[in-house]
Amino acid sequence: MTNFEEKLVLPNGIMIKNRFFKAAMSEGLADERNRPTEKLVRLYETWAKGGAGIVVTGNVMVDRRALGEPRNVVIEDEQDLELLKKWANSGTQNNTQLWMQINHPGKQVFKGIVKEAVAPSKIEFEPSLQKYFPIARELTEREIQDIIKRFGTTAGIAKKAGFTGVQIHAAHGYLISQFLSNRHNERADQWGGSIENRMRFLIEIYKSIRREVGEEYPISVKLNSADFMKAGFTEEDSMKVISRLNDLGIDLIEVSGGSYENPRMTGSAMKQSAQKREAYFLEFAAEANKVSKAPIVVTGGFRTRKGMLDALQSGDADMIGLARPMAVYPSLPDELMEGSREQVQLASRKTGIKWIDRTAMLELTWYSLQLERIAVGKAPKETLSPKLALLRSIFKNGMDVFQMRRV
Ligand SMILES: Cc1cc2nc3c(=O)[nH]c(=O)nc-3n(C[C@H](O)[C@H](O)[C@H](O)COP(=O)(O)O)c2cc1C
Repeated sequence: MTNFEEKLVLPNGIMIKNRFFKAAMSEGLADERNRPTEKLVRLYETWAKGGAGIVVTGNVMVDRRALGEPRNVVIEDEQDLELLKKWANSGTQNNTQLWMQINHPGKQVFKGIVKEAVAPSKIEFEPSLQKYFPIARELTEREIQDIIKRFGTTAGIAKKAGFTGVQIHAAHGYLISQFLSNRHNERADQWGGSIENRMRFLIEIYKSIRREVGEEYPISVKLNSADFMKAGFTEEDSMKVISRLNDLGIDLIEVSGGSYENPRMTGSAMKQSAQKREAYFLEFAAEANKVSKAPIVVTGGFRTRKGMLDALQSGDADMIGLARPMAVYPSLPDELMEGSREQVQLASRKTGIKWIDRTAMLELTWYSLQLERIAVGKAPKETLSPKLALLRSIFKNGMDVFQMRRV
């Protein structure tokens, strides 16, 4: 029987101390020049002490012209190596694997954050989102090659700084996910068309990183099971990508789903009655596990000890991905292993202001504020007022940023 404490050996032989995987949460805690800060050092120290086998950072950007949010960390070269070392050092305490998530948002970045948004093709978002996004320009071949190289560079620096692995963010509608999706990729060259062509960008990024970090270093991919959009990325496509990544020696795959257009990753676009199991993507993960030699992590929705144990013991998931619960209970892995906690209850956060409550934005803002509390040495606060979270966010980021704050 698989239990939380059972060690996991990755295909490359690296041993993970248990089955808990703290999933990426964008921290928004870089300084105004997008460098890591003491706040990040403290936040990751707290998580490292909380017991998770693998902790993944929030998304780190490969290009400062392409931020997802104003306070993302950006790594283009080694100028912040010392700060990165401090961050890595704090997050690898307690035999914790600390993996850096690496990302490029492509066109999924709202107006005012970047000068010019780029994408595989010039295709607008669905109508209700169009007012928030600039119309993206189609990437040239040279630019595509440049981005591929940047992922490799950022990963190489992460390794040099002491991060023990990296994760490519290929989910949630960002650039790689845009390439993968038939809906957002209409290219007629080697980067578009068949799923083999649409996955080429991800595969080349993987190879570029592998060249930089060597065979022994863990590389994982966060991948959508599907984007749940008409003519979008399907489960069948996703399965093909998982197969190909396995052929190339991927070390771990995290399964998620959705994008800004249909934010299934946080369960907000799903009817509870339609949800057969606690975790949103478990059924797909079970299928993926049949074709994947690399361990499968499922993220999204886990809240009970029983639900997590079932997922491990059925063999459907090899690790349990946890994001929001870790913002409120940073030592949750230890508590679950000791048996001192059976479940976490995380109500959806509402202000009572209708137009705001329609979006899932407040929810994300509320969790970000919890991260900030931990980062300054305070305890997370379950009773934190949603209205206060809203005001803080507007004060910090301005109205547009609040409106479009997404995962
Ligand atoms: C505040 C916040 C920020 C997030 N940032 C990221 C991110 O940078 N990269 C990513 O892959 N997912 C991100 N996510 C999504 C989570 O990793 C996860 O997929 C999602 O929250 C569902 O898992 P949960 O039910 O355990 O929270 C974020 C989620 C939240 C709440």
